[in-house]
Amino acid sequence: MEPAINWPDLQGNILRGYRKHFVRHLVLTVDRPAAACRWLADATSGDDSRTPQITTAQPWSGDKPTSCVNIGLTASGLAKLGVSPASIASFPHEFVAGMPSRSKLIGDTGPSDPSGWKREWQDHERIHLMISVHADNAAIRAAVADRIMAASGAFRLLAALDGEDFPGGKVHFGYRDSISQPQFYGVHGPDNRRDDQPLVEIGAMLLGYATPVEDIRWRVPSPHVLGFNGSFNAFRVLEQQVEQFEQFLSECADRLMTDPVGKRLLPPGEEKKWTPPMSRRDALREMVAAKMLGRWYNGVPLEMSPHSPSPQPPIGEEKLNDYGYSHDPDGQRCPIGSHMRRSNPRDAKIVQRNTNHARRIIRRGIPYGPMYDPALPVKAERGLLGSFMCASLTSQFEALQYDWTNLGLIDPRITGTNDPILGNNEPLHSRFTFPVGEEKVTFRGFPHFIHTRGGAYLFQPSISAIRYLASLGDGKAARKSSGAAYVD
Ligand code: HEM
Repeated sequence: MEPAINWPDLQGNILRGYRKHFVRHLVLTVDRPAAACRWLADATSGDDSRTPQITTAQPWSGDKPTSCVNIGLTASGLAKLGVSPASIASFPHEFVAGMPSRSKLIGDTGPSDPSGWKREWQDHERIHLMISVHADNAAIRAAVADRIMAASGAFRLLAALDGEDFPGGKVHFGYRDSISQPQFYGVHGPDNRRDDQPLVEIGAMLLGYATPVEDIRWRVPSPHVLGFNGSFNAFRVLEQQVEQFEQFLSECADRLMTDPVGKRLLPPGEEKKWTPPMSRRDALREMVAAKMLGRWYNGVPLEMSPHSPSPQPPIGEEKLNDYGYSHDPDGQRCPIGSHMRRSNPRDAKIVQRNTNHARRIIRRGIPYGPMYDPALPVKAERGLLGSFMCASLTSQFEALQYDWTNLGLIDPRITGTNDPILGNNEPLHSRFTFPVGEEKVTFRGFPHFIHTRGGAYLFQPSISAIRYLASLGDGKAARKSSGAAYVD
């Protein structure tokens, strides 16, 4: 029998997105472990007067709160709070080793190599805890973050990373994001199912449940109260090279303006039927961008509308994720090598047949840095603060980055190529190919458009686990406030 999901025991950011417009991630060192434990007890006490409370997955009875708070810990953070070496050794090795040590596997090489990460990420052992504040506006975000820091007296701030939503849910590069997310048995049903994609076992996200891989359950770290209902988060600071990306699209469009294959890719005059109508060059730029991702800028999937971002009749908002690739085996509509098709092959035939839906991850990301305006190009760092959540970092996040994003092991026709948007490409070898009828279009010579500038593997404990951690300090505070007993 599968355990029933205990909503108040889960951190609230895992199975649902808050859709808040402002986020601050506090990257912290624990200077005073006992005070940190007291803060954890206070933050799960149900009493907001001492410190903002960690948001659980308990459905809201009234209005949405104006802010939500969640935490994740590194392995060195767990150790700092007093988790025993034996307990830490029961966590998966990649989590214990930490994100920088996995750099070669996950494509953090060249400009993404950890030696070039921002200062706050350089001494990985010092990164203990991340507290994420999601808020309706910047003032609330600052007030909540300040209250946390003032209340705890435990943490040293290494960095406060601010992200802000762009209009229309867009991210840098101009695409609309946050449309496709996995949905789970026992969580999504007829009342709240967002699309017709197959449901996935909850064990793909939470520890202690059946996973999508037959007979596989990820080990729950011990003690059980610490591991159960937890989840992992590959937190990444991903800098986007927007100018280079835009320039590449322009170069591709210029080539397609004169290359006869351009006419087959986008029949002349088609762009005038778009809403709004476009110049042919701009339309070809957008076409290339769509081929690289798998959706048009506005989120319309190529698979459902291969020639136009504004099909007639329009595709309803609720249908934007209702598609698969089985009827497009060669990638005539959506290239096999595109970012989305590699990252989630849906129902396509792939080499690793048993993993079609087993590497699903939850993505929570928000842009940082100023929006790029080609008319007023401001030199600034910009990118995505991304949380990639799953129950097994190796079998989901890392496998995705390694096998599929880079290498392209998903399908022999793209093996040896990297994701054109996310992959660690270098101009000498990069190649993005897709079919147009009997012909092929191949673009070469493009760089790595996304550079990793920092990150950490975090464990996102359940509320019971946070109280357990709290009890490791002076041991009393958590028990007093919750009445919970930590017997394993
Ligand atoms: C700056 C970095 C990134 C950008 C700009 C980006 C952009 C996008 C966009 C615009 C979408 C389509 C929106 C949607 O369907 O929800 C998408 C989908 C997706 N991305 Fe990324 N992404 C980035 C990094 C990553 C990383 C690091 C991973 C995983 C390792 C990843 C995995 C996925 C997955 C799984 C999907 C959904 C595919 C589907 O369900 O069909 N992305 N991405």
